[in-house]
Amino acid sequence: MSDRKLILSVENLAVGYDVELISKINLEIRAGEIIAIVGPSGIGKTTFLRTVAGLVRPLAGEISCNAPRRGGIGYIPQRLGLVRHTSVYHNVDLGARSGTPFWSEPLTWFNRRHTRVLDAVNRMGLVEKIDEPVRRLSGGQQRRVATARTLAQRPKLILADEFLSELDDDNISIVLDAVKEYMKESESAMIIVEHNIRRAAEISDKLLQMNLDGKLVKFVDYELEPLSEE
Ligand SMILES: Nc1ncnc2c1ncn2[C@@H]1O[C@H](COP(=O)(O)OP(=O)(O)OP(=O)(O)O)[C@@H](O)[C@H]1O
Ligand SMILES: [Mg+2]
Repeated sequence: MSDRKLILSVENLAVGYDVELISKINLEIRAGEIIAIVGPSGIGKTTFLRTVAGLVRPLAGEISCNAPRRGGIGYIPQRLGLVRHTSVYHNVDLGARSGTPFWSEPLTWFNRRHTRVLDAVNRMGLVEKIDEPVRRLSGGQQRRVATARTLAQRPKLILADEFLSELDDDNISIVLDAVKEYMKESESAMIIVEHNIRRAAEISDKLLQMNLDGKLVKFVDYELEPLSEE
């Protein structure tokens, strides 16, 4: 894995607002890798993702991201931040508009954008819902819209905050497979915050835990129980 392109490196990072939540965070993530972060509610997982996404100022340390400045980091928020009264198309197009550069002549900009929207909607299995207002979709479908919006941006680093919540097992596989396929094609990486430890362990290459002592550590002291035979 170590010959893969380095996508993100974080050194001695401290995150928080008025008070520091988590400090001395050190991690590297390379193309194709998925890092999952678990930890108790309110510990600072979302704050960490928001800091990497550039939405919260780091309290200390360095973040360097090897991705286009524009659109290179795709953030799927825990609270999805969709425009509920407009269509799936419109919401996904918001990602495409703010996405990574197309490197093409301006005349074809609209078509390229349109292609990105259709591709992302298709990957998330939302073709039938494309003209539907978002507020009429189920919770799980809305999560897929938020994921499609991020894929339409064509990011190099995906930051996903509990994005598998409200999905049943079949939908989790569909969404995960689609995101992994995108990651493979685009040589991108993903950091996912996930409250379900078993799922986090299953889908990630590396599992990290935010601890009550304010540190991010490798997840060790948990024995995953064997899946019951059904
Ligand atoms: N905008 C903000 N300004 C000040 N404090 C905040 C802000 N957002 C969150 N906090 C505080 O920071 C702490 C960590 O919040 P955060 O959302 O990062 O936790 P979390 O680990 O993602 O929790 P959960 O698992 O419940 O989503 C909480 O105590 C919260 O009240
Ligand atoms: Mg959170």
